[in-house]
Amino acid sequence: MAISVEELRQLVEEDSAGWRKQNCVSLRDLTAAQIEMVLQVAKELKRHDLGRHPSLFWRYPRTLAMLFQKPSLRTRVSFETSMAHLQGHAVYLAPDDVGLGIREAVEDVAGTLSRWVDSIAARVYHHTTVQQLAQHATVPVINALSDLEHPVQAFADILTLQEYAPAGAPMRLAYTGDGNNVLHALLIACSRLGISLRAACPPGYEPNPAYLEDAQQYAAQTGAEILLCATPQEAVKDAHAVYTDVWTSMGQEEEKQERNRTFAPYQLNEQLMTMAAPGAFALHCMPAHRGEEITEGVMNAHKHTILEQAENRLHTQKALLMLILGL
Ligand code: CP
Ligand code: NVA
Repeated sequence: MAISVEELRQLVEEDSAGWRKQNCVSLRDLTAAQIEMVLQVAKELKRHDLGRHPSLFWRYPRTLAMLFQKPSLRTRVSFETSMAHLQGHAVYLAPDDVGLGIREAVEDVAGTLSRWVDSIAARVYHHTTVQQLAQHATVPVINALSDLEHPVQAFADILTLQEYAPAGAPMRLAYTGDGNNVLHALLIACSRLGISLRAACPPGYEPNPAYLEDAQQYAAQTGAEILLCATPQEAVKDAHAVYTDVWTSMGQEEEKQERNRTFAPYQLNEQLMTMAAPGAFALHCMPAHRGEEITEGVMNAHKHTILEQAENRLHTQKALLMLILGL
């Protein structure tokens, strides 16, 4: 049932999941209640466009520094727009602006930014860099993608899955492709929330065992099934949704040729979609490379869910900012 804007304020104010001033570096550090709270607030923000309701404007505008070592469309624009909708301000720092760890030590960047801004979002090559930022900052740090994990993507993915979930049946998600940052975040988020996830990755490109083990432990508590399959056909069988991501992530460009060869049998194409449950939909975090990990046809046929996923980055990240920074 929809809640009023006043009830939404109370929900954020109460902070029953303990989000205030917390980092969001890895989903492995979060409780199920924290993940669920982001989703709950996001749903209310999305409904009736409450996301830019004047009652939710910050009376004392907050500022977010966005440190990006890699390119971005979705993450940058959804964070900047979230801050604008709440009448706060985002400061975008492009890869060459700061020279994180090169011009200046990560520790000094974290300490200095903490004297000006209310929070830091960072997109980094090495996960240890965002961990270091969190260690040395005195303001909350949000992982805007690292080589290991993409937690803010997973919030939007789960919201989309919940919106399109079949009535009355536990959700089953399949993933085909690289065992990368996006899959790591999905493994934790899905297992925490009772969503089953079967993944097929080529030998040598499986997810990090620590993520798989954690996910299997959470799944034992929530009743989800977390499984690595030998083939994409096995993974998609009876799935309600099929997810894929690029074969070559940012920072792996030199491996592109070899990856294109290895991943070819893992492509999300029309034939693979027919093996999923009737009415199954496709998901992709984007950017997508048509003709590589996903065909033009699947991309076009499932544009609606894939763009909904992108839209949900805005609602979930706005919810996260409200919960971390308060009202
Ligand atoms: N999905 C995602 O994070 O997109 P960007 O790289 O464009 O931010
Ligand atoms: N796995 C991809 C995700 C991009 C949003 C990458 O890291 O480049």
